[in-house]
Formats: sequence, structure tokens, C-alpha cells
Amino acid sequence: MEIHARGLVKAFRGARALDGFDLAVPAGSVHGLLGPNGAGKTTAVRVLTTLLRPDGGTARVAGHDAVSEPAAVKAAIGLLGQHAALDEVLSGRQNLELFGRLHHLGAKEARRRAGELLERFGLAETGSRPVSGYSGGMRRRLDLAVCLIRSPRVLFLDEPTTGLDPRARAEVWESVRSLVGGGATVLLTTQYLEEADRLADRISVVDSGRVIAEGTAGQLKDLLGGDRLDLVVREHGELERAARIVERAVGARPAADADARRLGVPVADRIGALTSVMRALQEEGIGVEDIAVRRPTLDEVFLHLTAAKEES
Ligand SMILES: Nc1ncnc2c1ncn2[C@@H]1O[C@H](COP(=O)(O)OP(=O)(O)OP(=O)(O)O)[C@@H](O)[C@H]1O
Ligand SMILES: [Mg+2]
Repeated sequence: MEIHARGLVKAFRGARALDGFDLAVPAGSVHGLLGPNGAGKTTAVRVLTTLLRPDGGTARVAGHDAVSEPAAVKAAIGLLGQHAALDEVLSGRQNLELFGRLHHLGAKEARRRAGELLERFGLAETGSRPVSGYSGGMRRRLDLAVCLIRSPRVLFLDEPTTGLDPRARAEVWESVRSLVGGGATVLLTTQYLEEADRLADRISVVDSGRVIAEGTAGQLKDLLGGDRLDLVVREHGELERAARIVERAVGARPAADADARRLGVPVADRIGALTSVMRALQEEGIGVEDIAVRRPTLDEVFLHLTAAKEES
């Protein structure tokens, strides 16, 4: 395993940010840590990148122990933090060359590597302009280039796209994907199921400092019974009757939100469910204001997983 954590514990003033955290990531794969604010994602990344000493458990990265061999771990990794440190006055190219020099590359090699990375991240043209004029997406791509200046074996990306608009987010995703082609192992934290879905081979869902579920994006969504069908009926008084019709059509009892006149139910076959529900409601003369099939949200994955945890 290229990244291996077992039973990690870390407490801040008695409160456990990590509480028996386990993780195993094979070399050459992308692993997502998915969890809400305060779940412990950044704390896990800080322990694995040697920035924080755990109170208990073990952490190994690239074959070295994060506590007893921090220098060896540091030499093998790159870290994209939640808040990056670029020099605003310098150009993208100058920032990259500076980081290259800081990491003991010669002047010539630093220049060559900077040019290569600007090219790779689509920054070749903007590379000579000061960073102060960069958009959020350009900054994040430059951050990524900075972490790669030494070609790390293992790359940690802490919320690489938080705060970016959908277009910039897609640009960063593209950059991360191109990285993995180079054979690196990537651990990525995110609050977005979609991001983990697009980038990660496997995902660990983190809550209250521990992993509560692990698998491929497909496996996690299957825990919820696949997609969701939502509909809003026109008349408040018809909600109960509509619920019975939906139940008959898809074979599962929908959850009802009376105030919003809304019904929601998990469905396995998107189009089949949409068609049969629409037809059944029409036949019964029930007016529908809105109807849609959608992927489960992170909230729903969480509610489902935490509810399952409480029941067991
Ligand atoms: N240096 C610190 N001092 C005190 N408490 C901390 C410290 N770092 C983290 N915590 C606490 O540990 C818990 C986990 O925080 P962490 O930053 O790891 O969460 P996260 O999953 O990265 O959240 P986010 O999505 O908001 O980045 C939180 O309750 C947080 O308040
Ligand atoms: Mg964090």
C-alpha cells in the first residue's frame, strides 16, 4: 500500500478529530476522502503529510513511517493545501521557478520544469503575467503545478476545487486526471460526491474522525438504492393518494414532505420509473407541478450511512 493508516487518533483539547481512522490506498490509484465540514479530512491529511503528530495509530506513506521517518515521507510527497501560498507579484513562471529552486533544482532545471508544467496545465500563455491577475481556476492549476515541481510519488490534494465555478472545477479535474496517467498515487479530499465520483477509483466516506463506508462511487450510490425520483403534486390534498400510486408504480414507499407537496423515492431504472409514475398519475388525474430523476446527493449518502450506523 502506498498510503496506509491504521487506527489513527488525534485529539484537540480532548475532542477527537480522528477517532480510529483507517485507510489503504494502492500505488497508482486515486482515492477520495469524502466528508462534511469538521469530519477530520484535513487532520488526516496533515498526519499523513507529517505536519501533525497523531496521538495513536500508525501512518505509512511511500513505504515510510510518518512519525519516525518524516524526512523520507516529505521527500516522496506533494501537498496541495486548502489555502496555498503563491507570490502575487511574481508571474506564474517565476513562482514555479522559485519553488523549483527552493526544492534544490538547479536554475536551468527549474526553468525547464516550470516551462513543462505551465504547458501541461494550460498556463503557457498566461505564465508570464503576475499571479494577482489570475482567475480562481488558473490559481488552482498553478498550485497543482507547484506541488508537482519535484514529481512526487504521492500527492495529497485537500479540497482542490472548493470555491471554484463549474468551469474552473472541470479544468482542475482535467489536470488531476492527466497527473494520474503519470503513475502518481493521489489522495483527494472533497465535500462533493460528484468530484469524488469523477476522479477517484475508490472513496472513503469520513464522519466524526472515522471511515463509515468505503468503496467505488457506484457501490456507495447503490447503498442508497441508486437514483432518486422527486415529484411535486399540484394539490396539497392529493399527496397521500399520489404516494400510494407512486408506491404501486415503483415498488417502494416514497418519503413525503407535506409542506412542499413533495414525494421522493429511490429508483433503480431511471427512465422506466419516470415513465410509469407519470403514466399512473395521469391515469388517476393527479396534477404534477414538477418531476425529476436525479443522482443521490452527498447529504442523502450521509443521512443514509449515519442512520444505518445508529440502527446497528
Ligand atoms: N488545530 C486545531 N485545533 C483545534 N481543533 C482543531 C484543529 N484542527 C482541527 N480541529 C478540529 O478537528 C475537527 C476536524 O477538523 P478538520 O479540519 O480535519 O475537518 P475537515 O474534514 O477537513 O473539514 P472541512 O471540510 O471544513 O475542511 C473539527 O472539529 C475541527 O474543529
Ligand atoms: Mg479540511
